[in-house]
Amino acid sequence: AKRKAIIAGNWKMNNTPAQTTALINEMKPLVADADCEVVLCVPFVDIPAAVEAAKGSNIKIGAENVHFKDSGAFTGEVSADMLNELGVEYVVIGHSERRTYFGETDQTVNLRTLKALEKGLKPIVCVGETLEQRELGYTETLLKFQTKMALTNVTAEQLKNVVIAYEPVWAIGTGVTATADQADEGNGFVRAAIAEAYGDDAAQGVTIQYGGSMNAGNADELTSKENVDGGLIGGASLKAHDFSVIVKAAS
Ligand code: G3H
Repeated sequence: AKRKAIIAGNWKMNNTPAQTTALINEMKPLVADADCEVVLCVPFVDIPAAVEAAKGSNIKIGAENVHFKDSGAFTGEVSADMLNELGVEYVVIGHSERRTYFGETDQTVNLRTLKALEKGLKPIVCVGETLEQRELGYTETLLKFQTKMALTNVTAEQLKNVVIAYEPVWAIGTGVTATADQADEGNGFVRAAIAEAYGDDAAQGVTIQYGGSMNAGNADELTSKENVDGGLIGGASLKAHDFSVIVKAAS
């Protein structure tokens, strides 16, 4: 891909603070010569340990969610100001696990995206079709709709800080990876939706990742595709060596 790639790990609900320190210390030398952006999105409670361990390295730290209000009676939620104060730069928004298990909708994804951008956090917005939607032939329609919904009221200037991750739901954590052509096609649908809303030049500048069982063995082929600007990595981001191989593949 012609844009600078971003390889972002999404640790999901894995690693304690102590394990975070150990894993990042192991990863740092392995990814030090990366020619792509390297990000680790970690559980909220791991963020201080992650920021501390990543200090002086090329690893940027992200969160896995952010609330859409500044503060208030939202038990269990975390605000953008809280994340900023800890040194967080990126935040995953609308992951399919949030959509499936925690009632995240296209509207709340949009609100969270707007708040992240207003507060200077870079959102990694996740979109993706289920297997049923794919089999019914709705992949393009669905991806374009989710993309446009997520970006409602995002300005052209703010768009420069947006990252989109195309994650086919059927490929997440299943070991079933989309083929490189399917990934390229899905990412292309996302880019086309952005072009419809912001114009082709703006769309060409947006980093669009692929996610879903990307690993040390397939990252090279996936990231070699025109529309695949890196990846959002789940399982393989929990292993220092595997993650570093993916980073090298995207560099
Ligand atoms: O955010 C990451 C994706 O959900 C992919 O997870 O690499 O374990 O399939 P996975």
